[in-house]
Amino acid sequence: MALREIVLVPDPVLRRKAKKVAKVTPAIQRLLDDMAETMRAAPGVWLAGPQIGVLQRVIVVEVQPDPDKPDTQHEFYQLVNPEIAKTSQETEEGSEGCLSIPGYVGDVVRAVAVDVKALDRSGKPIKIKARGFLARVLQHEIDHLDGILYLDRLAGPDKLHQLPEDDAIPEETKVVA
Ligand code: NI
Repeated sequence: MALREIVLVPDPVLRRKAKKVAKVTPAIQRLLDDMAETMRAAPGVWLAGPQIGVLQRVIVVEVQPDPDKPDTQHEFYQLVNPEIAKTSQETEEGSEGCLSIPGYVGDVVRAVAVDVKALDRSGKPIKIKARGFLARVLQHEIDHLDGILYLDRLAGPDKLHQLPEDDAIPEETKVVA
């Protein structure tokens, strides 16, 4: 595995649409593993292909599905061609960061629940029924594959916040993607 360089705003690659992966080959598996290593080293909890300059529809996610229950085990996903199959009507506003937009967080309205269809690391079709934080993460990541950043979806003009000095950041807002 190898660390990849994370691309930052305003790099135009972040605004391009990523291509569907035709087949999950060993090269794609290596890419997914590099992404997981890069994400963990950042440290971050989610990363999409375009964020390392790769315009392929691949994402990695490692989150606690319910941040209110810190003892629960992290869920780790390496997903190929993820797409949202179903979106809840119910929405909620929540805070998001992005590894490509360091130093900021923003408040974004997202669907509370989504069903996501994808291929896993072995190329097998899977479906994830996500709620709450995991649902938010998946929506944020799939947006990256379409060149959309959370900045485009801010809940209002005053909803982008610059982070204070690192020491002052509460642990939960350090979550970046
Ligand atoms: Ni992001």
